[in-house]
Amino acid sequence: MADSSPSSAAPLPAAGGPALGSPGAVVAITGANGALGRALLRRWHARGARLIALTTCEEPLALNDPAGDPVPLRQVCWRAGQEALLEPLLAEVDVLVINHGVNRLGRRSAAAAEEALEVNALSAWRLLELFARVVAQRPAAGRPRAEVWVNTSEAEIQPALSPLYEISKRLLGELLSLRALDLAATLRIRRLVLGPFRSALNPYGVMSADWVAGEILRQAGWNCGLIVVTPNPLTYVLMPLAALTRRLYYGLVSRPEPPAA
Ligand SMILES: NC(=O)c1ccc[n+]([C@@H]2O[C@H](COP(=O)([O-])OP(=O)(O)OC[C@H]3O[C@@H](n4cnc5c(N)ncnc54)[C@H](OP(=O)(O)O)[C@@H]3O)[C@@H](O)[C@H]2O)c1
Repeated sequence: MADSSPSSAAPLPAAGGPALGSPGAVVAITGANGALGRALLRRWHARGARLIALTTCEEPLALNDPAGDPVPLRQVCWRAGQEALLEPLLAEVDVLVINHGVNRLGRRSAAAAEEALEVNALSAWRLLELFARVVAQRPAAGRPRAEVWVNTSEAEIQPALSPLYEISKRLLGELLSLRALDLAATLRIRRLVLGPFRSALNPYGVMSADWVAGEILRQAGWNCGLIVVTPNPLTYVLMPLAALTRRLYYGLVSRPEPPAA
């Protein structure tokens, strides 16, 4: 993992202020150089957040606001599998947006399955667990409640014409439902369930990433834990039902355990 600081980046001052809606929150976003990552960075910048862009991209990430001014951010290079290296950085973070993902349309080889499971599900889950551990160990005084936003996708419950993408996103969604039973005591967890928007991952998307990012922040401002943005009306009915059913079932048939020594 490299910490590459473009000329616009400055060291982040001490954290403070509420996580959403007022200046000062430290927001880290994975998949920062993707379509939604960039759109979310711009939206959070407009709310006065201090930004950490987590990206596989080694070139300086140049981002401008609607007025054409550069968006200040700290760029940190990483890739799926390097979650543990982010631990010191996560100690500074108030809101972690787990947003990275791949979608290899039409593929079903062992290598493609491994990549989809690793990037879309396991890496995202490891980051979630790591962030929860870091937050549990750091002093809470003077900080807003830490939040994690997990971008699972509508593919959790709907076809996406991409089997490995669906399988890996469903796994992430199910793991999130199970682990939220314990982790919600430490973290505010928000699940992002998005329909198709245009990006490298989905060139056929009907929504724009910028509009989706605006809707995500709007619903987060309403204090929604389940954030759904899609033109598909079924998802607004099925996703809350799926989340509730999992919560009840997993809560009934599993129990919390003390952390491993
Ligand atoms: N587009 C859609 O229709 C849609 C719908 C629902 C949900 N989503 C979800 O939204 C998220 C963002 O997707 P997007 O549509 O904005 O696609 P995108 O533009 O392709 O962005 C995805 C980003 O994920 C990061 N990434 C890919 N492989 C990685 C790896 N091995 N390690 C770490 N990061 C990796 C890359 O970010 P860097 O370039 O910064 O490294 C990449 O740009 C994904 O989780 C996707 O599943 C998308």
